[in-house]
Amino acid sequence: MARVLATDGLDPECVEILLEKGHHVDMIHFERNELLKGAISGYDAIIIRSATKVDSEVLAANMSPKSRIRLIVRAGVGLDNIDLEKASELGVLVKNTPTASTKAVVEFTIGHLLAGVRNISRADRAIRSTVWAKKSSMGTELSGKNLGLVGYGRISRGVALVARSMGMSVHVFDPFLEEDSAKDSDVVIHDSVESLFSSCTHISIHCALTESTRGMVNYDLIQLMPDVSPDGIVCGRHIVNCARGGILNESDAYKMLDSGHIRSLGIDVFEKEPEGNPALSSHPNVTSTPHIGAATSEAQKRIGMEIVDLILSEFGP
Ligand code: MLT
Repeated sequence: MARVLATDGLDPECVEILLEKGHHVDMIHFERNELLKGAISGYDAIIIRSATKVDSEVLAANMSPKSRIRLIVRAGVGLDNIDLEKASELGVLVKNTPTASTKAVVEFTIGHLLAGVRNISRADRAIRSTVWAKKSSMGTELSGKNLGLVGYGRISRGVALVARSMGMSVHVFDPFLEEDSAKDSDVVIHDSVESLFSSCTHISIHCALTESTRGMVNYDLIQLMPDVSPDGIVCGRHIVNCARGGILNESDAYKMLDSGHIRSLGIDVFEKEPEGNPALSSHPNVTSTPHIGAATSEAQKRIGMEIVDLILSEFGP
């Protein structure tokens, strides 16, 4: 029997299965001060989402000789909130659920792209304050525009598929792209991020947060973007970040929204969470959401089922 802790929630059906299989499951969210006092050391498996940071300090505080921790499962894709090196040094196995949320994030990214170019949030905010903002809500179409994808993993490929079906021309930069892996997928591959930004009026970020991508989408890169699309429309520049907070430099983005250089920003992930960035979010041309790209019933169920499989294969029965 394993003692399992889900710090940031877990699908109830999955909890049921684990209980039926004889495991003990606690659903408790611990704050950082509690984590630093060893609050999770009595569990064999810890399931976290993005709200719990398991860095080297938290690991060290919970790895006394009596500690039970053998497995940390990241319910989602990004592993940037876990110190992987320290975990491996301490003999703790780290797993994620890399495919379960793909569809949810793909659809959500397209939603943010549409919200930006068609002023959906801005018009909604106006109508709530009894302003019929029809004239000022003129948008542009996605069709006929160049979409630049930073990173070309599962989610990015899904976005490319939908975007192409909507008439967009898809451009990609991914330094880890294996040669020929995107050859048949009808996307334009760029060999530098600068070249990608210079070619696209619309950008969607899909890479991991690492030391080399932190702050990467900044003033220098954004100022390279054209504002006229290949179909000759002055559509402005549009950016979406549903990947990880910190890849987009929020202070540069705010200034460039204010100067009109960026026409719209769709942002689901922030440098600081759950604080967000109230100043940025209150800009009229920003649609912001609280890190809910993967928040669909279907994705959470798939994530939960993958977690059940991981727990059962590690601890039985
Ligand atoms: C992920 O990395 O899959 C997401 O950020 C999951 C989440 O909502 O925390």
